[in-house]
Parts: sequence; structure tokens; C-alpha cells
Amino acid sequence: MKLFTSPLAFVAVAALSSTTSAKSGPISVAYVEVNDNSITNVGDYTLADGSNAFDIAIIFAANINYNGSSAVLYNNPNVQAVLDDADNQIRPLQAKGIKVLLSILGNHQGAGISNFATQAAAADFASQVSDALNQYGLDGVDLDDEYADYGTNGTPQPNDQSIGWLISALRTDLGDKLVTFYNYGPASDYLSSSSASIGSQLSYSWNANYDSYEAPNIPGLSKSQLSPAAIDIPTTPQSDAVSFAQETVADGYGVYMTYDLGNGDDSSYISAITQALYGQAATYTP
Ligand SMILES: *[C@@H]1O[C@H](CO)[C@@H](O)[C@H](O)[C@H]1NC(C)=O
Repeated sequence: MKLFTSPLAFVAVAALSSTTSAKSGPISVAYVEVNDNSITNVGDYTLADGSNAFDIAIIFAANINYNGSSAVLYNNPNVQAVLDDADNQIRPLQAKGIKVLLSILGNHQGAGISNFATQAAAADFASQVSDALNQYGLDGVDLDDEYADYGTNGTPQPNDQSIGWLISALRTDLGDKLVTFYNYGPASDYLSSSSASIGSQLSYSWNANYDSYEAPNIPGLSKSQLSPAAIDIPTTPQSDAVSFAQETVADGYGVYMTYDLGNGDDSSYISAITQALYGQAATYTP
């Protein structure tokens, strides 16, 4: 359905708690495909009152590889370059109060978030994620159940416990960092029928079907934690992006998700959204 394909940690958390955004309304999320575009764009849009247009920037995306026995967190060279350049590409966003997350998805090798065979295997992968977030001073992880190609390399099919094991292990390892869920794939099916407490371990979730408005159905997540809107900036008509923003506010949801913010000035589209969400235009200042 889509087009795609320590001390540091302390500083990052401290920066988060000093978020200066004065706007009221839903938080806004911007995924950036860092193979093509710079994550720093997320910090370049500012509302009239000085607030950030976007509250969460998501690095899209790290991968889940398979090494013959286990899921292994893998960064392609473009993702790795962003992480290695955190001082210039991540810390400035965090200094503005924007939370920076790492998206994780499959890589056609059979390993994914829905087929951990044991709780221990899920916990092992969660610890790899936790180590990476700490190493690079990131604010959380976004889980995306795409491109795993379950069954490849003799891997098992999805099961109904894997995603819950992973989320629980991440929550334990990550403390108050964000754990967010892109509501897609087998993990989406299993979460929607999961225990009533699963939502208490997630921070946010968003609709994943671009150019549509439908809140994820995940037990225990409140409206304030959900984005019914799924906006693919390059392809979702601006009129839809605006009407979904209006509906988000009218319906009392707390999150508005966009994918594929590009390089350069897209402020007429972004402004149309922020007018509907916050009653303020957005300006672009690279
Ligand atoms: C595969 O990755 C797991 C988890 O990191 C590790 O424990 C194991 O030694 C690795 N196996 C191989 C064959 O590299």
C-alpha cells in the first residue's frame, strides 16, 4: 500500500522535559525517509507563536535482519550516517523540544516483530533496540510490521504473542522513552485482539493507510494517543489533509501523523494543516 521500501541519554531526556511548545491541540508526527531526505527538515517548520509545527520526528527506517538464528537490528548506510551525525541532525531537533524516534521494520529476511518464537527472543531484540536508543540518544522507537517476508530463511509465521512480548520488553528496557506503533500488518491484527493492558505500554499509535481517516483499534489506548489521520505528504491531496486535521480536532484525537516530509519548502501544504490543527500558519526556516 505504500511507496517504500549514558550521558547522552540523560541530556536527551532532559531536553524533552523542557519542551517549550505553547501550541494547543494534537501533536504532529513527521516520518522522514532518510534515504532521500534530511531529518533536520522536521525542525524547520515553526508556527506563528514560535511553537514547533511538528512534535515527533521519525527516522525511517532501521531494519530487522536475520542472522540464521536471531533478529538483528540493522542500520543501512543512510540511517547509520544520520545516527553518527546526531550532534548535527538529532540534537538540534531535541533542543527545540522535538522527540526523535527510530522506526524499525523488516528487511525481507524473515525476521519481524510478529514472529518472535519465545519471550526471550523478543527480549533479546528489545535489548538491541534499547542499546541503540541509548547509544545515539534517541527518544523512542516506532514499530512497523512491514517487509518481514515471514517464512523466508525458514523463519516461523507470525504468532499471537510476539508483538506483545516485544512491546512489554521494550517498555521495561526503555523506561519513559516512547514506544509507538504503526498500525499495520499481522502485529496490528494481534494487537487489536490483545489484552486490555497492552495500550498501557504503548505511547501512541497511528492509522497506516494513507489518505484515510480511521483510528487504530488497540485496547487501552485513549483518543489522546491515537492518530486517525494518515497523511502521505507527496500524494495525499491537501484538501484531504486539511479535512482530516479538522476531523482530528473535532473528534478529540491527540495525534496527527504525516509520512515523507521532504527537503525544501513545503510550507503551503504544512501551513494548511497547522491552520486546521492549531489555528496558526507554519513558516519554513531552513
Ligand atoms: C545472531 O544474533 C544473536 C543476537 O544478537 C546472537 O546472540 C548470535 O550469536 C548471532 N548468531 C550468529 C550466527 O551470528
